[in-house]
Amino acid sequence: MRNLCLKLQDKEYQIKIEKGLLNRIGKEVRSIYDKSRIAVITDKTVNQLYGKSVVKSLEDEGFNVSLLELEPGEKTKSIENLTLIYEFLINSNINRSSLLIGLGGGVIGDISGYAASTFLRGIPFVQIPTTLLAQVDSSVGGKVAVNLPQGKNLVGSFYHPKAVFIDTAVLSTLSAKFFADGLGEVIKYGAIKDEELFRKLIEYRDLEELKEDLEYIVSTCVDIKRKIVQEDEKEQGDRMLLNFGHTLGHAIEKYFNYESFSHGEAVSIGMYYITCCSEAVGITEKGTAEKLKGILAKYDLPHSLPESCREQVLKNVKFDKKSMDSGVNLVLLIKIGNSFYKEMPNSELSSFWNAGGKLLWQQ
Ligand SMILES: NC(=O)c1ccc[n+]([C@@H]2O[C@H](COP(=O)([O-])OP(=O)(O)OC[C@H]3O[C@@H](n4cnc5c(N)ncnc54)[C@H](O)[C@@H]3O)[C@@H](O)[C@H]2O)c1
Ligand SMILES: [Zn+2]
Repeated sequence: MRNLCLKLQDKEYQIKIEKGLLNRIGKEVRSIYDKSRIAVITDKTVNQLYGKSVVKSLEDEGFNVSLLELEPGEKTKSIENLTLIYEFLINSNINRSSLLIGLGGGVIGDISGYAASTFLRGIPFVQIPTTLLAQVDSSVGGKVAVNLPQGKNLVGSFYHPKAVFIDTAVLSTLSAKFFADGLGEVIKYGAIKDEELFRKLIEYRDLEELKEDLEYIVSTCVDIKRKIVQEDEKEQGDRMLLNFGHTLGHAIEKYFNYESFSHGEAVSIGMYYITCCSEAVGITEKGTAEKLKGILAKYDLPHSLPESCREQVLKNVKFDKKSMDSGVNLVLLIKIGNSFYKEMPNSELSSFWNAGGKLLWQQ
């Protein structure tokens, strides 16, 4: 069991990570919340697997629980579903002293967190993330959002939970596709901040051995994110490091209309591509791109950007929502475990991308 505390200027909260924690979730929630009414928001798949036992554990502690089940998938993060959630909260007599729990992956965490941040101008919120991506990334740090037809996460806020409860045992039911997706982010944490984590990912014999070490992996990633968020809650400095591989990754996801590559896959390609470029111009230690390529291949993640779309994807980087008029903030590695961000003027971007070509064409 790992118990981490995220400390901000005006609040702090616990992030508990333990295999099997869900079995006593009622008691854990009781330790941070002394009133009686709870609304749980989840999706159909997670509900079928864990809904009943979570509700029972909460009721055994004397809580009065209502549950709303949404459809699984990204489309659920919509304004329409937000309205549905507000109606459900009103019908369940949820007031300002009630608690809202998001039980599920990043989709459920993001929409339920945004609902909690806006309903009655904000009600207490707890995250119980159930995908690898949600456990290592989206449940920690307070970013909550819904999508608009015009783009992802366009309506959102910073709203931290009262606590995050992470049970790594639930990852055993996650599909291989979604597990690999989360691993893309795990590799990112190793690459930007933790050489030891990266080395361990190389050393695990196979995925099975990695899965035996999930408590270490998840808590190490959460700890990295926790420290970064503590220093830079609103993403004006070091929090940008978490975007390693993402500037290109987002452009890839968008180019393929979010259909061909999952987020983790697109980020994997982004991490490799940008490291080829920074290595070629002498910023990154030689051999780093090769190390990344090896680890991505080991965990069935792609590294290569299809040639047919290279030119357009690279052009689109300038239109990323995080880019500025003058240039793009790129996160680059000095070596594995050591990263920094650099504002690359638009006028230098194309020669930077071209520099990586030599390494890329050799693949
Ligand atoms: N707020 C943030 O800081 C942040 C960071 C990264 C990503 N995100 C958001 O997270 C979302 C993606 O999250 P995700 O990848 O978790 O997707 P998701 O929530 O759609 O979950 C993926 C799938 O796994 C299923 N599932 C969840 N837990 C399961 C379990 N234990 N066993 C079996 N199946 C399970 C779900 O039903 C779903 O079908 C995106 O909307 C993204 O924008 C937010
Ligand atoms: Zn990501």
